[in-house]
Amino acid sequence: MLSKTLQNGFNDQIQKEFYSSYLYLAMAAHFESVNLRGFASWMKLQADEERGHGMRLWEHVSDRGGKVDLRAIEQPPAKFGKPLEIFQQVLEHEQKVTASIAALHALALKEGDVAAQTSLQWFVNEQVEEEKHASELVEQLKMTGDQPFGILFMDQHVLGARK
Ligand SMILES: [Fe+2]
Ligand SMILES: [Fe+2]
Repeated sequence: MLSKTLQNGFNDQIQKEFYSSYLYLAMAAHFESVNLRGFASWMKLQADEERGHGMRLWEHVSDRGGKVDLRAIEQPPAKFGKPLEIFQQVLEHEQKVTASIAALHALALKEGDVAAQTSLQWFVNEQVEEEKHASELVEQLKMTGDQPFGILFMDQHVLGARK
C-alpha cells in the first residue's frame, strides 16, 4: 500500500504530466497557426506520450490501493516565439519534470517503498530520453539560424518524420 505522502506526490506528478500534455498541445496549435505542420505533428505525438506518462503513474497509485485525485490543470501559454525558443522552453520544462521525478524517487527511497522506486525508475530513464531529444532539436534549430529553408527542412524531414 502506498503511503499518504507518496500518494500525494504521485498525484502531483500526474498533474504535471497532464499539464505537459496540455502545454505541448498549445504548442501544436501554435505551429498549425503558422503552417508548420511537421512541428505540430511532433507536438501532438509528444502530448499523447505525456498523457501516457500520467496514466502510467495513475495505474501505480491504483494498483497499490491508493486513490487518484485529479488536480486542476492551468491554462498553457497561447503565444509562442520562434521554433528555437519553443524548443528551449520544452527543454526547460522537461528539466523541471526531471527534478520533480527525482524528488519523488528520493521520497520513495526515504520511505523504503521499493515498488514505487521501481515504477519511478522507468520515469528516470524516460527523462534522460526527453532531455536528449529536446537538446538535440535545440542544437539543430540553432544550426538553421532561423533561415526559412532550414526550418522547412526540419518541419518536413525531422519533426514531421516522427512516428
Ligand atoms: Fe512526461
Ligand atoms: Fe518520451
